Amino acid sequence: MVGYTTMIFALFFFLCIIFQINRRRCCKCPISIDYPFVGMLPQLLWNLWKFHDFITQTLKQQHRSTGEFKGPWFSQMNFLITSDPFNVHHIMSKFFYNYVKGSEFHDIFEAFGDGIFATDSDTWKYNRSLFHSVFKQRDFEIFQEKIIHKKLETSLFPMLDHVEKQGLVLDLQDVFSRFTFDNICSVILGCDPNCLSIDFPYVVCEKAFDQIEECIFYRHVLPKSVWKFQKLLGIGHERKMTKACKEFDQFIYSSIESKREELRKCSKNNIEMVDLLTLFMRKDKESQQVIHDDKFLRDAAFNLFVAGRDTITSALTWLFYLVATHPLVETKILEEIKDNFKTINIEKKLGVDDVKKLVYLHGAICEALRLFPPIPFESKKAIKGDILPSGHIVDPNTMILFSLYSMGRFEDIWGKDCLEFKPERWISERGRIVHEPSYKFFTFNAGPRTCLGKDLSFIQIKMIATSILCKYRVQVGEDHIPILSHSIVLLMKNGLRVKLTKRQN
Ligand code: HEM
Repeated sequence: MVGYTTMIFALFFFLCIIFQINRRRCCKCPISIDYPFVGMLPQLLWNLWKFHDFITQTLKQQHRSTGEFKGPWFSQMNFLITSDPFNVHHIMSKFFYNYVKGSEFHDIFEAFGDGIFATDSDTWKYNRSLFHSVFKQRDFEIFQEKIIHKKLETSLFPMLDHVEKQGLVLDLQDVFSRFTFDNICSVILGCDPNCLSIDFPYVVCEKAFDQIEECIFYRHVLPKSVWKFQKLLGIGHERKMTKACKEFDQFIYSSIESKREELRKCSKNNIEMVDLLTLFMRKDKESQQVIHDDKFLRDAAFNLFVAGRDTITSALTWLFYLVATHPLVETKILEEIKDNFKTINIEKKLGVDDVKKLVYLHGAICEALRLFPPIPFESKKAIKGDILPSGHIVDPNTMILFSLYSMGRFEDIWGKDCLEFKPERWISERGRIVHEPSYKFFTFNAGPRTCLGKDLSFIQIKMIATSILCKYRVQVGEDHIPILSHSIVLLMKNGLRVKLTKRQN
């Protein structure tokens, strides 16, 4: 007995020494109390309900808004969190090749497969050049314009008219979510599942997609061993994740199959812009090689769904919330539309070139994206050791987490009025758009992995926002307090409930 007790004490003593040495060695500024065994996890879980604000408050107290988070022992949950623009520039651009997404990212974002978001080196490069060649085409903008116009005419307006006439309360976030899902399905798969219709149908693949995004968030705040164990047993969020992935894959694979069948039947290649699946399949047909097999197409489609769906939903939801709660901004947006198109009772729907003229609206969108970045955090892993501009030491394999949400809320970056919604911040004295460097306005990422859909996003958001704002006054209930969702995309937990009234022009 004495022998065992001594051994246990000796082991405990030994672990404490290792812990202290380790703590001193990598204590680059712990962001909260680092308890033995459990690290800083209890405090993170305690504040989970206000996760983003907790991180922001914590980083505000750190030197150069950078600090270390230590998870439970042996949990591989240690990372450096930063919101310092100089660190962002260093990691994302200057020393890009030393910082990768890495295997942990690939594990957590398993559902992304080998798509553009989750890969590095050659796989990423191939995906990026493929998508770049499509997104930067003028034809693609026009293709997108057509789809949005059709969706506005056939689904959104009939629904909003119905809701307005009946005096119903509407969850605008749900409406945007359905709109963007139909839109991205049309762009990628060439079919419209009609999620957006008056009876608000329950569409399995749409809900499955939301579920996957939520479960990935929890993989960030739980030790890997815990969620892996849950997955093995098929319990908790992991059970939901497995089910949702299955449902979503069924939907995508069956779309791929019917597309292949369609292509086999149609022998001649149409030169006009078509959905992305057809485009990628045609490339194989032309080169007589199978580069884009079903798994490649599934991963590409999944990644583009994430990229182009909820990001736009999030941006529109926060924009409408902010505009509805800032009547002066709303008036200025409408005045700008009047100045450019003589009336807000626009007969023809605004197109790609029309919306590019709207500078004030552009400023309002940038403000919404600054305060509520649709992707609120990002991560990278160091290959070799490094020292960041903030002076923090990075060991090889250190995980680095960026809080984009916090960056929009720091006085050092945006000035004393950083918490205010001020579109004027983005407009120069000559009435032009102010271009902020991407390491400061980090919402669309920075460096070689900058978002490929940035220009397209502004076009989409402006087209949808102008068509709603010109027709309806959107009122948010006075008691509406937006709560941030637990997801990898920044949505409102309980949606955005509004009432609509038709504008008298
Ligand atoms: C408001 C809307 C959007 C925001 C805020 C946004 C933001 C971002 C961010 C932060 C990243 C980097 C993610 C990471 O590496 O972890 C990213 C990457 C990307 N985005 Fe967007 N995005 C938006 C819309 C779109 C749209 C509409 C598309 C196209 C359909 C798109 C396509 C992409 C692609 C392909 C990447 C991967 C780039 C790479 O890794 O090389 N995004 N976006």
